[in-house]
Amino acid sequence: MEFLGGLKRTCYCGEISSAHREKEVILMGWVHRRRDHGGLIFADLRDREGIVQVVFNPETDKSAYEKAKLIKPEYVILIKGSVRERPQGTENKEIKTGLYEVEVKELRILNEAKTPPFPVAQEKVDVDETTRLQYRYIDLRREKMRANLIIRHKVTNLVREFLNSEGFIDIETPILTKSTPEGARDFLVPSRLNPGKFYALPQSPQLFKQLLMVSGFDRYFQIARCFRDEDLRADRQPEFTQIDIEMSFIEMEDLMGIMERLFVRIFKTFKGIEPVRPFYRLSYDESMRRFGNDKPDMRFGMELEELNDIFAGTGFNVFKAAIANKGLIKGVKAEQDFSRKEIEELEQFVQQYKAKGLVWLKMKDGALSSQVEKFLSEEEKNSLKKLFGMKNGDTVFAVADASPKVVNDAMSNLRLHLGRKLNLIKDNDYKLLWVTGFPAFEYNEEEKRYDSVHHPFTSPRDEDIAILEQSPLKVRSKAYDLVLNGTEVGGGSIRIHNSEVQSKVFRLLNISDESARAKFGFLLDALQYGAPPHGGIAFGLDRLVMILTGSESIRDVIPFPKTQKGTCPLTDAPSDVDDRQLKELFIKKNIKA
Ligand code: AMO
Ligand code: AMP
Repeated sequence: MEFLGGLKRTCYCGEISSAHREKEVILMGWVHRRRDHGGLIFADLRDREGIVQVVFNPETDKSAYEKAKLIKPEYVILIKGSVRERPQGTENKEIKTGLYEVEVKELRILNEAKTPPFPVAQEKVDVDETTRLQYRYIDLRREKMRANLIIRHKVTNLVREFLNSEGFIDIETPILTKSTPEGARDFLVPSRLNPGKFYALPQSPQLFKQLLMVSGFDRYFQIARCFRDEDLRADRQPEFTQIDIEMSFIEMEDLMGIMERLFVRIFKTFKGIEPVRPFYRLSYDESMRRFGNDKPDMRFGMELEELNDIFAGTGFNVFKAAIANKGLIKGVKAEQDFSRKEIEELEQFVQQYKAKGLVWLKMKDGALSSQVEKFLSEEEKNSLKKLFGMKNGDTVFAVADASPKVVNDAMSNLRLHLGRKLNLIKDNDYKLLWVTGFPAFEYNEEEKRYDSVHHPFTSPRDEDIAILEQSPLKVRSKAYDLVLNGTEVGGGSIRIHNSEVQSKVFRLLNISDESARAKFGFLLDALQYGAPPHGGIAFGLDRLVMILTGSESIRDVIPFPKTQKGTCPLTDAPSDVDDRQLKELFIKKNIKA
């Protein structure tokens, strides 16, 4: 083992350029690859900024050459040498420093490394994600992962600078707190000093940022960690990060305008494109009608069509029953002929979303064929052809059900699936839009009561406050979501700032005065001490960076994420704790899972 011995790095490996030609440099980093050409040894030396080729030549320095025979991938070394242009024909256009190499005059091996569980130098590694997570410190050395985290840093930095320049103040809010109303399960932390009581980790800083508005901070932001105990997916982690924002004395348009400017800045900086402002807007109803969900991917067409009118008098029992039961029939056209096997696969695909089947209609030689052809009238077929503008070779797929939710789930997912299968979605295409006009409440059949679609502090539209009690399902809220390529990257609302309206909403949600006090009493009190009109939004930073870096999962943009089961293979969390710790917390260990 050798030491730095007072030597200082002159620059990063990845920074070597024409400015260093014929100059002496000292570099420190990891051995990326080593090639012994018998007589000459080449190594790629790597650090945070990139890779440079270094050459060990016995004629330049015999001892460095001899030592270089010992180095292996991931050894940590220091080299001193001079930068020269690579001989003609040996340049490497793939890397930034590829025109140069360093002729080594001194080598120090600062640390050895065991053979890593997977190679750092390969773009795609052939191991399961658990192994990557277990050795995350090695995984993060890989080019893609390193680049992702650096972009994440640059995005947060840009967001901070932008919000600072717009007068937003960065304020921290507690992590040990009380349940916040985002609708997921809480993570609880037992309190040693208050036997039997628990803190909840915040699902978002929602209530605190509202309190900060009551305090008069006017414009707040925080890059905030949030915790939600829910089932995990590619775009969901139990702890994740929000760009959390709140403003006073504003209406929807004011907030949306500033956020659009933030996103234009982000896209200009990271993608070199300038999204057109104002961003496209869709009402919730229109989004559901045209795309079957409230976060449509608008990079391709294939919009859904409602077919209830066409089949109003149909003889096909499945469609007839759907209409009779106040259900829905929806179709989508693909400009493609499908084989029997492909159609079977598509039918299985929609069944995942509880569709009971999938009707197909193919256009060939000007005529429509279908598995249910014999039940369809000429008029129905002609109307379908006309509605979809069908050409020879096109196929229309349709799902019917008494539950519009089933139809929309199945058809929106089928649309996405076909868009991907038919290669209609281009990489490097970014479609941003706002979805607004959400219903404020939905009816919960199981519990026989109304629920808030967002959280209970979301303001109804001014003109709908009058019908709050008579027709709650008609009330629209002042909520908005920002959607990017089919992902909800942000959501927020103008809040209720009047305690009477707030109490009315609680009553409607069947939250008793008592229970409202117990849960959110501090907010209700605050609303009575001069709360300004206010509203805000939170963006999912992980999701945004996932899309900007072209990653498939938010786990690839989070340095130390959890697995689908919420575990951390690196630290082995969550783990057992000893009985003494439990005793201190007044917790008995007895419930079996
Ligand atoms: P919401 O619950 O919509 O709003 O969250 C805002 C954004 O956070 C991201 N997000 C997640 N990202 C990763 N993993 C998760 N488990 C996860 N859950 C949510 C999404 C989402 O759009 N307090 C309100 C905001 C407000 O009203 O101002 C809130 O938290 O991108
Ligand atoms: P069945 O009458 O169940 O044999 O269905 C006849 C055809 O209609 C099958 O090919 C099914 O895939 C299709 N089908 C059945 N139910 C539905 C439905 N709810 N929506 C769309 N197609 C359906």
